Amino acid sequence: MKAAVSDARGIETLKISNAEEPGDPGPGMALVRTRAFSLNFRDLMVAEGKYGKPAEQPQVIGSDMAGEVIAVGDGVLSLEPGDRVLNAPITSWLAGTMRPEDFGSFLGGNGVPGVFAEKVLLPAEALVRFDKLSFAQAATLPIAGLTAWAAVVTHGGLRPGGTALCLGTGGVSVFAAQIARGMGARAIMTTSSTEKAARIRQVIGEDVQVLNYRQNPDWHEEVREMTGGRGVDLVVETVGGDSLGKSVQAVCHRGTVSLVGVLAGADSQVSVRHFLMRQVQVKGIFMESASELRQFVRFVESSALRPLIDKEFRFDRVKDAYRHLQSAKHIGKVVMTMAE
Ligand SMILES: NC(=O)c1ccc[n+]([C@@H]2O[C@H](COP(=O)([O-])OP(=O)(O)OC[C@H]3O[C@@H](n4cnc5c(N)ncnc54)[C@H](OP(=O)(O)O)[C@@H]3O)[C@@H](O)[C@H]2O)c1
Repeated sequence: MKAAVSDARGIETLKISNAEEPGDPGPGMALVRTRAFSLNFRDLMVAEGKYGKPAEQPQVIGSDMAGEVIAVGDGVLSLEPGDRVLNAPITSWLAGTMRPEDFGSFLGGNGVPGVFAEKVLLPAEALVRFDKLSFAQAATLPIAGLTAWAAVVTHGGLRPGGTALCLGTGGVSVFAAQIARGMGARAIMTTSSTEKAARIRQVIGEDVQVLNYRQNPDWHEEVREMTGGRGVDLVVETVGGDSLGKSVQAVCHRGTVSLVGVLAGADSQVSVRHFLMRQVQVKGIFMESASELRQFVRFVESSALRPLIDKEFRFDRVKDAYRHLQSAKHIGKVVMTMAE
């Protein structure tokens, strides 16, 4: 079967190779014919050998897929052939708190094989059924959608009528803004680009306020002005580095910063005073469990929220899909699809 593999030496050495078929599903497992995949910022790090310890041999990459169940192993009662499913990114984290050993089942990086292949064999409990979404839409939910859900709902505590500030216009932030709006909260986003700001309002909603962090490096002050001096209830902090200190100043008293990403670096210098005086909570986010993913899929399918796909590539154009993500010209998600 065809699979996308990486030798961890960069995007230019990514290729579609012939890989071994996964075989019949054993007890508790399900075999899935994949139909669509989505890319995440992490996939760029994996391809460049910057995520954990790369595998010694070229390895199948990718963490997010949607497809159709072909066969299930003994004891699997929750799924049957023909079911449309997407996968939890950490396959052994079923519910509750993540255990240290669960990190070893985080697909598509750090030596763990991924899902960018024609067929995948996964634990049935790590697969979530969907009905109303297309395969391309469903494939965007595993990492970016679930992380946004964790940042806004599971750990963010945002309520209807509250305000969420979502940094940047990538996969996680766009989902976070969509979830916030979907629950009746207000969304503010930041971007580096005037053109992206206009597109965001056009595709997510004219009520989304977008400010330009390049033109105004003191965007945290602008956010306070936009909220009548109060600050936002929640910041979905995807940037890290110097941004963290500004996020802590953009939040209201007893507000929350959901700390998600490191786009500007993993080290931050922040004044402790800003945390203390406004009693700010910082929550570290590391996606969530299969159980939270199930709840998120139910939320999406019962609402008007539809994933924002910036561009779809055919699977054999994997390199172009990665290049597009790396160019950061996208808003929302970059997707690859299998030919029918
Ligand atoms: N903790 C977790 O569980 C988890 C899960 C998923 C992702 N992440 C992390 O979250 C971050 C975002 O991931 P993603 O997949 O959403 O990324 P993405 O789709 O590649 O989005 C990146 C976007 O963020 C903005 N951006 C980039 N550098 C920036 C900077 N220095 N300052 C402000 N904005 C910047 C840009 O938007 P504009 O051009 O509009 O500014 C860019 O297009 C990454 O660090 C990723 O590793 C963490």
